[in-house]
Amino acid sequence: MEVAPLTTLGYTVTAVSLIFGLQLLRSPATARQGNRIAAVGMLLIIGITAGIIGGNSNWVFIVPAIGVGAVLGLVSARTVRMTAMPQMVALFNGMGGGSAALIGADDFRNAVAAGTAHPDITWAVMLSCFIGSLSFAGSLVAFAKLQELMPGRPLTYPLQTPVNATLLLAIIALAVFAIVSPNLAVFGVFIALALVLGVLFVVPIGGADMPVIISLLNSFTGLAAAMTGFVLSNNVLIVSGALVGASGTILTIAMSRAMNRSLFNVLFGAFGSSGGGAAATATTGAIHPTTVEDLAPLLAFAQLVIFVPGYGMAVARAQHDLKELATELEKRGVSVEYGIHPVAGRMPGHMNVLLAEADVPYPQLKEMEAVNPDFPRADVAVVIGANDVVNPAARNEAGSPIYGMPILNVDESKTVVVLKRSMATGFAGVDNPLFYNDNTLMLFGDARATLASLVQEVRHQ
Ligand code: TAP
Repeated sequence: MEVAPLTTLGYTVTAVSLIFGLQLLRSPATARQGNRIAAVGMLLIIGITAGIIGGNSNWVFIVPAIGVGAVLGLVSARTVRMTAMPQMVALFNGMGGGSAALIGADDFRNAVAAGTAHPDITWAVMLSCFIGSLSFAGSLVAFAKLQELMPGRPLTYPLQTPVNATLLLAIIALAVFAIVSPNLAVFGVFIALALVLGVLFVVPIGGADMPVIISLLNSFTGLAAAMTGFVLSNNVLIVSGALVGASGTILTIAMSRAMNRSLFNVLFGAFGSSGGGAAATATTGAIHPTTVEDLAPLLAFAQLVIFVPGYGMAVARAQHDLKELATELEKRGVSVEYGIHPVAGRMPGHMNVLLAEADVPYPQLKEMEAVNPDFPRADVAVVIGANDVVNPAARNEAGSPIYGMPILNVDESKTVVVLKRSMATGFAGVDNPLFYNDNTLMLFGDARATLASLVQEVRHQ
């Protein structure tokens, strides 16, 4: 396809803005700016694309489609709760995969009709349609699991891996056939099988592992988009698809590593099947419950307090009350830090986003490697709805399912206070010896209510 110089310039500006935006997303301090820059690039490319296609007098389809998409995107971004973000990402990702597959399918149909289908390009069409369809169907299943429209537990069936392997071989055979001898009926079966494989691929994976799978499907969608870029000879689609593919792959590997799991284990193991909140396991030893009244002076007269938020803070939506407590303590001269574990919560950057929403200053957010040396000199480490990411069994108990997972060493602080509602386990479903340590105090209750009471109590010290 012949591309006008002005369009090429627009493509280049968009590609640069996406790369630059991604670069800025690396730090919470610059993430918003990065998002805006990438969004401007996106707007530019939508404008250019609409202009090119609109030239063929398709405005009557383009304008309503852009309008509906923009309104849906805006409304969902503003109304969806942070805890529901993973399923929204799954849905958006599915749409990306589906779009790539539809564009590829349309290109193939036109080429067959015109008799111009040539292996030089149909290989890219097949890849784009296969990966796009798989990602579309898989993302919808991930969405349904997370939204509890279907059971979140792994749904396994006999001969699962051989069935999937046979399906994959059949898809490859059909794709080769459609490349060598372009045929719409064969192509239709090929797409249908790719959709079925997408469903079967995700159904056996537990709801709690979905964030990793969504990230993986996201990288698939990026690849599908890049393939579509080859089909359409559109460089910016190749660049943006490659960026999504690469960043999705890096994120998938980083998440698996931080959970101390291999990707293979996530895909084929049935770990985390309960989706968190499993029943309490047998308790060993005595715990030391405390009250807001007893804890307030301990915090108010401390020199260093480290807050460690986890999934429970997101559930309780306690980030604003946490910030308020930190502000009260700082007014009294207490130093405050926040220890952030890479997989605290249920999605990458979950804690950073919530704390940024509550206007917690970025320099106070410390990554695991940076905050761990500070725990021994902390007077109090306050764990807010975190469990697995502070479980010393990951460090000490070779037989534990989470053994080897890097954790925040809160147990090295002088005093640890754990805010949670019960003795229930976290995502991994394993008991936490931290709760039974002599220097650990348990403060039971909803994290938001507890923090709000603590703010009042600290004010009276
Ligand atoms: P979890 O280990 O899941 O523990 C969360 C704790 O929050 C629970 O023990 C729960 O105890 C408590 N809680 C729930 N609602 C609460 C409320 N309203 N008020 C107070 N406490 C509440 O969380 P974590 O330590 O953040 O660890 C995250 C886990 O998720 C890891 O195992 C990680 O591998 C996994 N994971 C993470 C990701 C990403 S990317 N972040 C993705 C997939 C899986 P109660 O019920 O007793 O209150």
